Amino acid sequence: MDQVTIKNLIKAFVKNFSLLLTENMLYPPQHPNVVAQTKQTMAAAETAFDVFKEIYLDIREEQFVFEGIPLYELKHIVMKTTQLLESKNIRCIRFAKNFTPHELSVFAGLAADKSRALDAEALQKKLGKMNIFNISVEKKPSLTADDGKGNFLPADKIYGSSVEANKLIYNTLLKENTIPMDIVDKVARDITTIISRDRGSSLALTSLRDYDDYTFTHSANVAILSVTLASNILNDTELLNQLARAALLHDIGKTRVPQEILNKPGKLTNEEWHLMRKHPMLGVKILEQQEQVNKLAVLIACQHHMKYDKSGYPAIEGFRSLHPLVLIVNICDVYDAITSKRPYKKTLPPDKALSIMMRLIGCDFEPQLFKIFTQMIGIYPPGTLVRLNSKELAVTRTAQPQALLLPEVKIIANESGSLLEKPLIINLSDEQQNSPKRSIEAVLDPKEENIDIISYI
Ligand SMILES: [Fe+2]
Ligand SMILES: [Fe+2]
Repeated sequence: MDQVTIKNLIKAFVKNFSLLLTENMLYPPQHPNVVAQTKQTMAAAETAFDVFKEIYLDIREEQFVFEGIPLYELKHIVMKTTQLLESKNIRCIRFAKNFTPHELSVFAGLAADKSRALDAEALQKKLGKMNIFNISVEKKPSLTADDGKGNFLPADKIYGSSVEANKLIYNTLLKENTIPMDIVDKVARDITTIISRDRGSSLALTSLRDYDDYTFTHSANVAILSVTLASNILNDTELLNQLARAALLHDIGKTRVPQEILNKPGKLTNEEWHLMRKHPMLGVKILEQQEQVNKLAVLIACQHHMKYDKSGYPAIEGFRSLHPLVLIVNICDVYDAITSKRPYKKTLPPDKALSIMMRLIGCDFEPQLFKIFTQMIGIYPPGTLVRLNSKELAVTRTAQPQALLLPEVKIIANESGSLLEKPLIINLSDEQQNSPKRSIEAVLDPKEENIDIISYI
């Protein structure tokens, strides 16, 4: 089952569970609405439990959070229930696979009861007394985000969370004509945090192509790539945060371009292309209508398809040169677009993408920044599955700028293909570590090899 289907199962369960709490807030337990909603929630739970043995739902900032990923799309639907649960200091609810309709209705009745001041602790005690063990509550979330005390969410969870957040940002703009800047800010900060913690892992996430939604992964990838590239030349966290926010919103104008054009499998007609080329200025218009939008975001939305030699679009006359942060986004935007799968094209491997881009140095791309970008990505970007000349399988980690063909790798399987219990990290460019001398023989497709790259990042 793919990630999207799994996420939808969880969303359906959470939505029904939240509705059940709402019905319980309004009606007594025997009311037909409550009975019907209990049935619906049980049905959604059964489907979700085909995949999970237990479901831990965290409650954070008025949202349900599953495996570290806020279910942003449900934010408005569940707000009343999450507020109620948070007021009772409930930060996590655990559902075990075999919970019964009786346990669910008792739990929902107690949790939704506004009159009784049952906080998390008192509620848990009460559940124990009533022999309800398959649903329980905690005062602490099961996964803690970066709380400044060394408790961090893994990078892949933050990435997943950013992709989800992008969906909410785009959908809110479409429905309400406003951008939820608090969420853009949160995602931007998360992105700069994972990069400062571990560049290799965050770069590797941009090479995962499992997510279906290009629009949402593309803006997260461009933000990660741009902030990583910029952090090579500047050391100002606030400016990096601003860049992340701007990169997340660089294609926001595409919300005003019809989906049929964005996802057209064939070549665009002149008229369609004309519309497509309007998305930078449409983005400027959208951003200028928002409060709290930084000038950098407007500049990047406007100029991200303008080139180093001032060609590209929109054609603007009379400016001397592009802002260095715009030049950074330009490189990252093109790289992510050509390495991604789209309805009209296959993915292009990173080395091929870089060699195509190299021909455009000095015209499309600023030479110095492009050089740093190549060193950062390497020939084998972090997260690439490779076969070594020893026939062992490995996942690449950080590129070594002085020896791009010899990155640091994590060996995950021996020469006969058996997965290692303890993967081995080796820097292929370090003669001492890399003895006998190993080198990369081929790039492999993780899907064909049945290897889940994310677990090795
Ligand atoms: Fe664009
Ligand atoms: Fe883009």
